Amino acid sequence: MRNILVAGNWKMNGDTVGNAELVAGIIAGAPDSDRVELLVCPPYPYLGAVVAATAGSKVAVGSQNVSEHEKGAFTGEVAPGMLRDIGCEYAIVGHSERRTLYGESSDDVAAKFKAALDAGLKPVLCVGETLDERQAEKTEAVVDEQLKAVLDLVGVAAFANAVVAYEPVWAIGTGMTATPEQAQDVHAHIRQLFAGHDANVAEGLQILYGGSMKGENAAGLLAKPDIDGGLIGGASLKAPDFLAIANAAAQG
Ligand code: 13P
Repeated sequence: MRNILVAGNWKMNGDTVGNAELVAGIIAGAPDSDRVELLVCPPYPYLGAVVAATAGSKVAVGSQNVSEHEKGAFTGEVAPGMLRDIGCEYAIVGHSERRTLYGESSDDVAAKFKAALDAGLKPVLCVGETLDERQAEKTEAVVDEQLKAVLDLVGVAAFANAVVAYEPVWAIGTGMTATPEQAQDVHAHIRQLFAGHDANVAEGLQILYGGSMKGENAAGLLAKPDIDGGLIGGASLKAPDFLAIANAAAQG
């Protein structure tokens, strides 16, 4: 059975004092369940401090983005090897905010995925459709294109060390959560797509849901067979809110 991964994407929020409080709260209240894994993804400047604060706990740390390059003259970028060097285990790639606000194409995302993996990080690959795309019944086509770019570059075996997050863009930060059925349909589709390449990889792949997930709706989403956790924005910024989701996962 797959473990449940409850991941917080802090986005561009937090400060030194607040982060220390948040992390201490999460560690203190983390559910005592071998099936539930916890991950926090703070902004770059705080990664080192959060790695130190989570040492010896069950909370892993990841970045929100990563360069596709190994090193060199790329002002302002952060290399995957640097993130691994300071103790990060995961790197989010292809978040919809990166795709829409910073123009990352699916090929860019694929290159970042590969670079992260090569450096020993576990990529969390985000995919998802906009409201227009959903209304035009293009959800599966959009998700397929986003996944195919990565599969073409790294191959299916790479996904034994990766996570996929389905984040419908219309549900992110809007309070409009996908229903458990809507999310399950897309998650099942994603797993089927992987099964077409490799049944074992598909069976082991953690597919997270993201988009206005919170304590009140987590249990319903996590009860679905192909939803293996959450990538949480707003509700990951306060320990009680994040723990409500982690506890729902532990009880499921
Ligand atoms: P919200 O939980 O704030 O909707 O954000 C989801 C998200 O984008 C996580 O990556």
